[in-house]
Amino acid sequence: MAETLREAVATAARRRRLHMPGHFGRTPPGGEGLPWSLDWTEVEGLDNLADPRGVLKALAERAAAAFGAGRAWVSVQGATLPVLAGIVGVAPAGGRLVAERLAHRSVLAAALLADLDVDWLPARWDQDWGIALPTDPAAWAAHGPADVAVVTLPTYEGLAHPAAAVVAGARAAAPRVFVDAAHGSHWGRAPGLPPHVLAARPDFVAHGLHKTEPVLTQTGLLLARDGEADAERIAEWWRRLGTSSPSYPLLLSIERYIDARRRDAGGWDELCELARGVRAEAERQGFAVLQTEWERAGGVADPAKLTLFGHGPELARRLRAAGAEPEAVGLRWLTMVLGPAQDLTLADWRHLLANLGPPPPPPPLPELPPHPGPMRLSPRAADRARWRRVALREAAGLVAARAVTPYPPGIPVIMPGEEISAAAAAWLAHHVGAGLSVEGVEEGGLWVVA
Ligand SMILES: Cc1ncc(COP(=O)(O)O)c(C=O)c1O
Repeated sequence: MAETLREAVATAARRRRLHMPGHFGRTPPGGEGLPWSLDWTEVEGLDNLADPRGVLKALAERAAAAFGAGRAWVSVQGATLPVLAGIVGVAPAGGRLVAERLAHRSVLAAALLADLDVDWLPARWDQDWGIALPTDPAAWAAHGPADVAVVTLPTYEGLAHPAAAVVAGARAAAPRVFVDAAHGSHWGRAPGLPPHVLAARPDFVAHGLHKTEPVLTQTGLLLARDGEADAERIAEWWRRLGTSSPSYPLLLSIERYIDARRRDAGGWDELCELARGVRAEAERQGFAVLQTEWERAGGVADPAKLTLFGHGPELARRLRAAGAEPEAVGLRWLTMVLGPAQDLTLADWRHLLANLGPPPPPPPLPELPPHPGPMRLSPRAADRARWRRVALREAAGLVAARAVTPYPPGIPVIMPGEEISAAAAAWLAHHVGAGLSVEGVEEGGLWVVA
């Protein structure tokens, strides 16, 4: 057996291809620059991701070793599959989840799939920036008991509380702690980065590899601290929810990353130093930097994220005029991503930042969403019930059938199964009236349980 997937692919390439995919490894006209020759299927020697016994099993074992985990599952469906299979595989039938309201929508999807009740911790907003902050570790004490606690660490903007306090807080609410670290796979690679979240001893960690590391988009990992617990049920759900046609270019990019991660810090030492310089330069130009403010308040922030305060759309316009594209734009902020593979120097960043300044004054922030109403049904019961659409002005007191999510920031104001409060209905009516985009509101109405 070949030791690595790369060797196994080289061996397979010596045989004539009488199998899928339909391009047979040849570049079709106009397809130059795409990885046709690396695109395979589960032929002899290339193993089966749904039931790995050869090179893909060895890859998962190297991935677990690279992160110090007991077991790893390799995903070509981003962090979404690790979140889904991890939560569904671990939660007992009819169980209860406790999760932060700023969780990615895959957490709600897991609750729907496994028919779990959810106890949501309300999002905590920064009133000035209009950004959801990590949940205070002490907030978990008012929630639970549940079967699984789902923590998002770090947030999209790279913010976190110290992981040990968060995991301890979540553990008091539920015996199993699942950390969605989609944005934190690089943590722990260099002394300047925050420690990897497994050091805080949660039970499971989900990563999206492509978000901050040089790995192809749609790659991810599920890590289990203990290699045995629930492993068979997770593996079964991985098979059920995973594609039966995994992408070998994605798998090869995961292999390259895992082997590199075991060897060295991948340039993150230098990146941490660069990030310090970039943040200081932004402040010198008069910008407030979210990550620096958060660290000054005692929090942990990712050097890979840079969020500047100001008129977001105007900052984005200036950045694009300077030939660069941001990661995300809000009303009062703009976020950019830094990484070792970017190959930008401090001088390059100075030049980019010079194009952004002086900070354009931000527009007023619309009132932030009110606290969620009580959960009257499980998300699944609300989803399976008969639905009807009602006008926003008639929605107060009814039970929502679908999530209602203003975008940005993409955090639901109402979840399926939740009683719609008068405050939430009024807040939504105001935002829809102001022309803001709200997923789940159509023609001025939203879906409720009939
Ligand atoms: C916190 C969090 N978890 C999970 C996901 C899902 O990751 P993916 O898009 O790789 O499936 C995302 C995506 O942005 C995310 O931000």
